[in-house]
Amino acid sequence: MDVHAAVVRSFGSPPRYGPFDLPAPSGGDQAVVDVLAAGLHPRVRSGASGSHYTSTGKLPMVPGVDGVGRREDGQMVYFVADDELAGPMATRTVIDTRRSVVLPDGADVVKIAAAMNPAMSAWVALRRRVPIEAGQSVLVLGATGNAGQMAIQVARRLGAGRVVAAGRDQARLATLPGIGADATVALTSDAGATAAALADAASEVDLVIDYLWGKPATDTIMALLRARADRGRALNWIQIGSVAGPDIQLPSVALRSANFRLQGSGQGAVSTSGYLAELPSLIDEIDNGHIAVTARPAPLSDVETVWKEPEVPGVRTVLVPVAPSGHADGLSK
Ligand SMILES: NC(=O)c1ccc[n+]([C@@H]2O[C@H](COP(=O)([O-])OP(=O)(O)OC[C@H]3O[C@@H](n4cnc5c(N)ncnc54)[C@H](OP(=O)(O)O)[C@@H]3O)[C@@H](O)[C@H]2O)c1
Repeated sequence: MDVHAAVVRSFGSPPRYGPFDLPAPSGGDQAVVDVLAAGLHPRVRSGASGSHYTSTGKLPMVPGVDGVGRREDGQMVYFVADDELAGPMATRTVIDTRRSVVLPDGADVVKIAAAMNPAMSAWVALRRRVPIEAGQSVLVLGATGNAGQMAIQVARRLGAGRVVAAGRDQARLATLPGIGADATVALTSDAGATAAALADAASEVDLVIDYLWGKPATDTIMALLRARADRGRALNWIQIGSVAGPDIQLPSVALRSANFRLQGSGQGAVSTSGYLAELPSLIDEIDNGHIAVTARPAPLSDVETVWKEPEVPGVRTVLVPVAPSGHADGLSK
């Protein structure tokens, strides 16, 4: 089937818009959809560069991990891409209908495409990996990015009693009380001052949602454990992103001297069925405006240019094959 798509022909080069021969659906669970919107998430970039841990290494490939499409019966669906099928950055694509959810009438497709991937990280972590208990306190490490900002709101929606937001960009950090952070901590180059501020604001948290890893995580683990009043009380650390580095140094004493529980949340750590079960409730949260997102729609045909542009902090780019009304330009909130 002839479609137009963002096509990656060599890892290391951005996708280029052009004709693509979309394989026909096979089996009763596959269906063709007109793509309406697909988010350009960090995970999409790592998949398109061949560096993500799920990468199959096959080329050419059409990138994307999720999107919103219109089925042949006219219903709009949010869908999670299947690694074995062409991705959603195309005018039409094939979805596995078992990985799709019908959207509520009037849903803002750009908003859904922007928010689902970053919001799902904390939603699944706090529902499936370490289910949060009402009133527990949460530290979001790396709170200034898209996923971090949503983690603050998700934690609140799921019953957190206190949310501490830690991040690098001080101007954006200052906006986070407006979306539910009780306290903020600036991660600065002054390691001593940062450790003291973390100890002061977050030593008694129950859960950490970590988008950073690398040195900030190394430093934060020890700062929290050293200051903790009762080291026998569980500190659940949920590793989700690694924007600050792929490795940490973890002194063995961290695991012996405290009830420190380290685990991750992502594809593999949580089953596909576990993710799919969470989609409808998260779609409702986003559609009802309980989890805010700032999206920037851009034409899919401009993918090569858009791909090379620096990301606007706190804004998620969404590629649209045909701009839906009201989203031709500017931001969608
Ligand atoms: N496992 C999952 O289920 C899952 C799901 C979604 C996303 N993720 C991962 O989560 C991470 C964040 O995703 P996102 O969508 O929020 O990306 P994003 O919107 O690009 O945000 C990343 C933020 O990280 C901050 N940052 C970068 N380096 C930093 C450092 N050294 N110290 C402190 N902050 C730093 C930047 O903020 P400043 O410019 O303010 O410093 C940036 O805004 C990515 O690694 C992504 O792959 C995982």
